[in-house]
Amino acid sequence: MSESALPAEEQPPHRLKPEKPWLVAVLANVKDEKMPLPPDVAADALADYDRIETIDCIRAAIETDGHKTVFLPADRELPYALREVKPDICFNIAEGLGGDAREAQVPALLELLRIPYTHSRVMANAISLDKTLTKRIWRDRRLPVAPFQEFIVGDEPLRPELRFPLFVKPAREGTGMGVDAKAIVDSPAELRERVNYIIHTYRQPALVESFLSGREFTCGLIGRWDAWKYSRHPEWYDEKHGYHLFPVLELDSSRSVTPGIYSQESKSKPVGEEGAPGYICPADIPPELTRKLQQLVVRAHMAIKAIDVSRTDIRLNAEGEPMLMEINTLPGLTPHYSDLCIEAAAEGISYEDLILEILYLGASRWGMVAPRETPPRPLKRTGGLKSNPRR
Ligand SMILES: Nc1ncnc2c1ncn2[C@@H]1O[C@H](COP(=O)(O)OP(=O)(O)O)[C@@H](O)[C@H]1O
Ligand SMILES: [Mg+2]
Repeated sequence: MSESALPAEEQPPHRLKPEKPWLVAVLANVKDEKMPLPPDVAADALADYDRIETIDCIRAAIETDGHKTVFLPADRELPYALREVKPDICFNIAEGLGGDAREAQVPALLELLRIPYTHSRVMANAISLDKTLTKRIWRDRRLPVAPFQEFIVGDEPLRPELRFPLFVKPAREGTGMGVDAKAIVDSPAELRERVNYIIHTYRQPALVESFLSGREFTCGLIGRWDAWKYSRHPEWYDEKHGYHLFPVLELDSSRSVTPGIYSQESKSKPVGEEGAPGYICPADIPPELTRKLQQLVVRAHMAIKAIDVSRTDIRLNAEGEPMLMEINTLPGLTPHYSDLCIEAAAEGISYEDLILEILYLGASRWGMVAPRETPPRPLKRTGGLKSNPRR
């Protein structure tokens, strides 16, 4: 009898770890807070770059499974560094340098060089950076989004379906960049002023949306239809769609430095500090709302062809209906601080397990991990997404 013909519970434990440890290059843009910014860029220009401490934590997590790691800055020297270092795989969290699809730059380079890497591929990273494009795709799939309009020049006539108050943000930034108390505008004059400020300061279109006045949530996922085959924790994944949904996190900005908005300033404050938002995980909401939010998160992820990991931000409108705001295909991974890490910790998933899961899911797409042949029992049966997993 071959091993795979044994009933699942009698099979020997599956060895995911390769015989030979990998050399894993962590690719990121790190902020040097001591370096003065050029005078012509916004004060929050580096907000979504990582701190070196985060890179160190990711490296340490990967090394717990016996791999070697190296940090390669994702700058213009990266093509040469890759050629010299020859990593087996890259753990990519690079935000990229300028342009209209900076988060897709490193994935595009790695595909050109045929080097395996983690997280989403080129297209999804480009789309998710562009909030307008993302919303157009979601709207096409009948997913709920607030009415919106993109301003490229600044003097475009406002569409009649957009009623004040409105919310104005850069179309292609992250980490709350360009988002502060003045993002909420109440009159045509305020709208024009803010739109022009965004276009000129951030040198990109301004996205104008109906202001969503309700509660704010974010929810991450990992996995894909065959995740259990390559996972160190196959029991995490839903047997129907293959994803693991993290518990929903509520961001309570009512007492933050920017009341009602999860701004760049409030995001930069350590969890629990004065002026930081409240992080409530799992969110204290009815199970039906949890289920609805998690279903939207799966559909939002699939609609833009994101792979393996993402985190989607959602707000309720005045009627209490959830509206998708944006999706992060490179969600922050700073332990005890980034939303995804808070969500994982809330259900007892260690930081090491989270990082290694992303690594092995990525590696499996490049044939680097031997698949399990039989699903271990039981895989999670949430009946689609009927309950908040592991709650
Ligand atoms: N239409 C909106 N209505 C109300 N608040 C919004 C709206 N869009 C964004 N925000 C607020 O701004 C924050 C940042 O916006 P988001 O689209 O998530 O961009 P990013 O996190 O990439 O900077 C959100 O977390 C939310 O607090
Ligand atoms: Mg966001």
